[in-house]
Amino acid sequence: MQRIYFDNAATTSLDPQVLEAMMPYLTEKFGNPSSIYSYGRESRLAIETARKSVAKILNAHPAEIFFTSCGTESSNTAISAAVHDLGCTHIITSPLEHHATLHTVEHLHKRGDASLSYVNLLPNGHIDLEDLEHQLANTADKTLVTLMHANNEIGNLLDMHGVGELCKLYGAIFHSDTVQTVGHFPFDLRNTPVHFITGSAHKFHGPKGVGLLYINENVRISPYIHGGSQERNMRAGTENLYGVVGFAKALELATAGFEADSAYIKGLKIYMMEQLKKNLKGIAFNGDPLGRSLYTVLSVSFPKTEKSEMLLFNLDIHHICASGGSACTSGAEQGSHVIRAINHNPNQVTVRFSFCKHNTREEVDAVVGRLKELI
Ligand SMILES: Cc1ncc(COP(=O)(O)O)c(C=O)c1O
Repeated sequence: MQRIYFDNAATTSLDPQVLEAMMPYLTEKFGNPSSIYSYGRESRLAIETARKSVAKILNAHPAEIFFTSCGTESSNTAISAAVHDLGCTHIITSPLEHHATLHTVEHLHKRGDASLSYVNLLPNGHIDLEDLEHQLANTADKTLVTLMHANNEIGNLLDMHGVGELCKLYGAIFHSDTVQTVGHFPFDLRNTPVHFITGSAHKFHGPKGVGLLYINENVRISPYIHGGSQERNMRAGTENLYGVVGFAKALELATAGFEADSAYIKGLKIYMMEQLKKNLKGIAFNGDPLGRSLYTVLSVSFPKTEKSEMLLFNLDIHHICASGGSACTSGAEQGSHVIRAINHNPNQVTVRFSFCKHNTREEVDAVVGRLKELI
């Protein structure tokens, strides 16, 4: 039986064109980018060409683009730097952040490096901007606001400009985890009031193990990883040459196909919502799926029964890949911290379906048909 992969927010398949672009750097072009002879210079050129391409697509300056090992490292770097280098002694975040953010801010808080507060949520899971402003207005401390652009479990989209303007008004530093939107959304960083954003190639048909950190040109921080002078002294360690080349190629392809792909994927999401409503009773969609929402993600709660409690397991048996929440926490017993924060109904089982351009309506029909049987 064909596998149906509806877990594209966890990771995506590598685009063959990306692999093709990477291959020379996995084989004959293996020089260390720091070496000064021709092999090294060839590798250095590939990295700097990738940086320029990424910067152009995001409307940033190449000097603002840093390659890392993953989105998690990028967020750790930005958040730690805001506290240790930029003088932030207070952090405002939300309970819906990815653990790359939540565990980092909790760690800094436990060490006594910064106080920590959580912004209120609206009933649909969006950030309450009035509460954010209230919190910013009522702290005398230099503050870091760290809020994700798109939630990886429910798809809610942040009003990044709105948050950025508030941060500007109150002199706060703004970091946004954009791992689910870089490669899925047009960015115009020159005209976006944000200090740090992050990205991860494996979320948009690029390779795993390569991330992006954008640091606004007006921000000066110290490195998070110490060692050699790679990434202009900002991120030591021999560069993931083929990964960086793959990152840029994947972003180029995603950008070229953005209009057609996003419309197609959004159509799939809406079709799945319609089919679920038509075929299953008592289901609920989490977040704001038809409002400010990422077109790739659909979070569905099903009534809890003896059968539905085993839902993910049974979907897996039938070769359907979907998650209970973030892939990084899917082994955890307590379930999703995001769903717990927005939905207090313990009599529901939640599944996240997330789509890409390779998915089809036939697959949606097959999954809905299987869900009908399993619930
Ligand atoms: C919103 C969000 N932030 C951060 C990450 C971590 O990214 P990476 O896998 O590149 O460390 C992920 C991916 O799981 C994510 O979905």
